[in-house]
Amino acid sequence: MSARTVPRLTATDVAALDPYAFFAVLGKRVIHPGGRRATDELCRQADLREGLQVLDVACGVATTAIAVARRFGAQVTAVDIAPLMLARARANVRVAGLEGKVVVEQGDILALRFPDGAFDRVFAEAVTMFVDRPRAARELIRVCQPGGHILAAEFFWRRPPTAEARRIFLGEVCPGMQFDTLDDWVALYQAARLSDVQVTSGPFEMMTPAGFLSDEGLMYSLAIIGHTVSRWSRLRKMAWLMPRMARAVPYLGYLVVAGVKPA
Ligand SMILES: C[S@@+](CC[C@H](N)C(=O)[O-])C[C@H]1O[C@@H](n2cnc3c(N)ncnc32)[C@H](O)[C@@H]1O
Repeated sequence: MSARTVPRLTATDVAALDPYAFFAVLGKRVIHPGGRRATDELCRQADLREGLQVLDVACGVATTAIAVARRFGAQVTAVDIAPLMLARARANVRVAGLEGKVVVEQGDILALRFPDGAFDRVFAEAVTMFVDRPRAARELIRVCQPGGHILAAEFFWRRPPTAEARRIFLGEVCPGMQFDTLDDWVALYQAARLSDVQVTSGPFEMMTPAGFLSDEGLMYSLAIIGHTVSRWSRLRKMAWLMPRMARAVPYLGYLVVAGVKPA
């Protein structure tokens, strides 16, 4: 991504970023629990092929949208609410040479501009938990065509957290985020009328050294470390974030919910 294409942030801007935008600023490409492993699972469950119309809601920096277009030849619409993410997503799509296959635009998961049944596949990685969850699930299903697949990756408590881990993660690291158990997520999507619901889950490894390396590769990981230490504001934010994340990681997991919109 070229520095010319994305706005430069001040130290105050950096201090105010949520953790996900902060990782995007550092150049991290995979920004969801479960990392590339979860995305591979989503793609497998989605039965992707050339020519399908895919919507990626809350696309972040467009890593999944680019992979889906490149690997499967699908036509992807990638939406996100945040200008910072959209700028990086557009730059990444341009660098990937996929401007004809991935369209990036602003959108809100709670009020998508698309008509009912507009897409064959709808992806939502790590976003439903930030918003009104039942409304978001209904909206994902609304824009999918009958018989199409809806796929979501979410956080969940893999084992009951201590009061301290819950308070630090949901209160300090990601204020406003809401999630509970695997069964709660399944119930939420079933209540939104998703059928044939399948769930897979695993540990939250995105921020462990092994997970980081596996998601980003050695060269990108070194570049992200370089971007972190290159500015005092970033280093200070990382020094605040990492010990807090470490308190919650043992209790966190990711899950992938996949289902079909009933005919
Ligand atoms: C944890 S990041 C996930 C990004 C991307 N899906 C990925 O897996 O790398 C959450 C994303 O949700 C976006 N977001 C938050 N609220 C949203 C909303 N109401 N509608 C659309 N996107 C939203 C954020 O801007 C951010 O890019």
